[in-house]
Order: sequence, then structure tokens, then C-alpha cells
Amino acid sequence: MISQFTDRLRFLRAFVAHPRQVGAVLPTSRWAVRDMLDLTDLATAGLVVELGAGTGSQTGEILARLGPDARLVALEIDPQLAKLLAERHRDPRLTVVCDSAEFLDAHLGGALADVVVSALPYTSLEPALRRRILDVLPRAMTPQGVTLVIQYSPLMQGELRQRFASVQRRISPWNVPPAFLFACRQPTGPAL
Ligand SMILES: C[S@@+](CC[C@H](N)C(=O)[O-])C[C@H]1O[C@@H](n2cnc3c(N)ncnc32)[C@H](O)[C@@H]1O
Repeated sequence: MISQFTDRLRFLRAFVAHPRQVGAVLPTSRWAVRDMLDLTDLATAGLVVELGAGTGSQTGEILARLGPDARLVALEIDPQLAKLLAERHRDPRLTVVCDSAEFLDAHLGGALADVVVSALPYTSLEPALRRRILDVLPRAMTPQGVTLVIQYSPLMQGELRQRFASVQRRISPWNVPPAFLFACRQPTGPAL
């Protein structure tokens, strides 16, 4: 309970410092995290990538669902949040990287992800940065892989459809604000 309160405070502080980068005043609720991760079977994944890990709302649940030999690479651009994540989850399967999601390729050692979990605030990012990151997503996953995206509006659906042949959407109401969840499959090739 105390750590949940402290996390909310940390998150709020990060939002005040970089509102467009953080894009939300509260971490994702545990219900929305479960709804999002239920869109795929993490137990069979070998490599999972998390983008915009923040205070770790998704990180712990991803680790709980992963197999013993799987790997999770979590990218977070805020150095303080990245440090907190690495200290909190001392799990040999987890690698925390403090870098921008657009450079994801550089941290996978040539491997492709079975699942990408993205909590990046695409609609508030600078448009060129948003496009660069979105272009990386299909390239970073295996042909059978899935990219899960959480947003607070349906606005990104069109841009996701430009990059993936299949974009499945559901709404998770138990989040502030309600969350739009997208499961994106079958990359359509390099984006224009
Ligand atoms: C909406 S918060 C989500 C945090 C957490 N995953 C959650 O669901 O509560 C977005 C996070 O993405 C991070 N972020 C923003 N731009 C990023 C980028 N280009 N690369 C990596 N992380 C980024 C922010 O620092 C912030 O922690």
C-alpha cells in the first residue's frame, strides 16, 4: 500500500518534470495490466520487450507470467525510473535499459521479440519521434510475434494499422482514464 502510494508520487513527479514524455498522471492499474497481458500467452514467449516501463506496473506482472528461461528487456528513458526498476526487480531474466525506444534494435543483440509491450504515450510524443518508434515495432518482433499497446484514446489505431495487418482492440474500463488496448500482429513490411 505504501509502495503503491510512493510509486504514484514518483510517477506524478516524473509527469510534472516531463508531461509529454510521461503522458499520464497515474501508473496503469493492475486490472488494465492484466487485461493487456491476457491478450497473449506470455508463458510461451522466449524474448519479451517492454517499452516505457515507468515505475514497473507491467514489469512485475510480465515477469510473473514468463517462463524460467525467458528474457525481458525493459526500456525506460527516465534515468531515475530505470534505476528504480533495476533495483526493485532483481531478476536474472530482466535487463533494464535506460534509452529511448527508438533505439530498441541496438539492445536486442540481433534477436527478435516474441512479444513487445508498449506503454509509451504516443499521442503526446513529438510526431517525428512517434513515427520513428512505431516504425521500429514491426521490425523488432518475430513474424509470429505480437505487439501490445496501451493508450488512453483510439487515436493511434490508424497508425498501427499502417504497420500491422491485424490490429485487435479492447477497452479496459478499470483504469484512470479507461484504457484502449491493441494487439498488433503480422507486420506489413517497412512503413513509408
Ligand atoms: C504512460 S507512462 C507508462 C509507465 C508504466 N509502464 C505504466 O504503465 O504505468 C510512459 C512511460 O514511457 C517513458 N517514455 C517516454 N518516452 C520514452 C521513450 N522514447 N523511450 C523509452 N521510454 C519512454 C516515460 O518516461 C514513462 O515512464
